[in-house]
Amino acid sequence: MKKDRLRIMVGENREAISEGGARLFEQKAIESVERKGRFLVALSGGSTPREMHKRLAFRASILWDEVHVFWGDERCVPVDSPWSNYGAAWDDFLGKVPLPAEHIHPMPVHMTPDEGALSYERELKHLFGLTAGGLPLLDLVFLGMGKDGHTASLFPGAKSLEEREKLVVAVKGGDPDVYRLTLTFPVINRAREVIFMVSGREKAEVVKAVIEAEEGRFPASRVRPASGMLTWLLDREASSLLAEKTLSFYLHP
Ligand code: 6PG
Repeated sequence: MKKDRLRIMVGENREAISEGGARLFEQKAIESVERKGRFLVALSGGSTPREMHKRLAFRASILWDEVHVFWGDERCVPVDSPWSNYGAAWDDFLGKVPLPAEHIHPMPVHMTPDEGALSYERELKHLFGLTAGGLPLLDLVFLGMGKDGHTASLFPGAKSLEEREKLVVAVKGGDPDVYRLTLTFPVINRAREVIFMVSGREKAEVVKAVIEAEEGRFPASRVRPASGMLTWLLDREASSLLAEKTLSFYLHP
């Protein structure tokens, strides 16, 4: 991946990267709305982004009327389940900001996983006005990463890693080990910007392997935006094994 489209930002701790992530979200939202009148963002699931999500409720410059929220993946559980990515985001900020209901695009979990994948794919094609073979152009995609190098719900060894046609697929696995819906790599890599948010010493080895090793051993290694920016937002622990020269800059508190 071209070095001028890769940046590694390090913050002291999860609080610092949460603030940094909220700031990047706000900056991209303002820039996108100014440029084209709307901002299309896909949220990550898991626990890491939750502090950032909570901070979004207080970013006064975001024109929520012009924002559309999607998800990179979702667990096929009821929205009131503690495992629901949509449910967590609703509690953390979506229920607190003036975002029109029709601008919130949760992955459907009230049908079978395969039906849900098809339904979300249809929704993306409709919203983005896609013709056959087209890819939705998201302005920003947030991703997390597991210790095994999975991202979204794209897990090591899964055939979903090789998907080149479908926009959304149904998979089973992860923690919790449930059915899930996930965007595929063609969609993720079409984005104008992808931001990984990763925290904690237990991920330092996989962070180093994904960022510094050439071979794409892990699912997260396959996140290579075709023309967009790839940003890693890491706390000091998660970045602790990276060579100093790898780092782009430190977030100031
Ligand atoms: C999911 C996530 C998943 C997550 C990583 C990291 O729905 O499970 O999208 O890819 O980002 O597993 O999770 P934590 O942030 O909880 O470590």
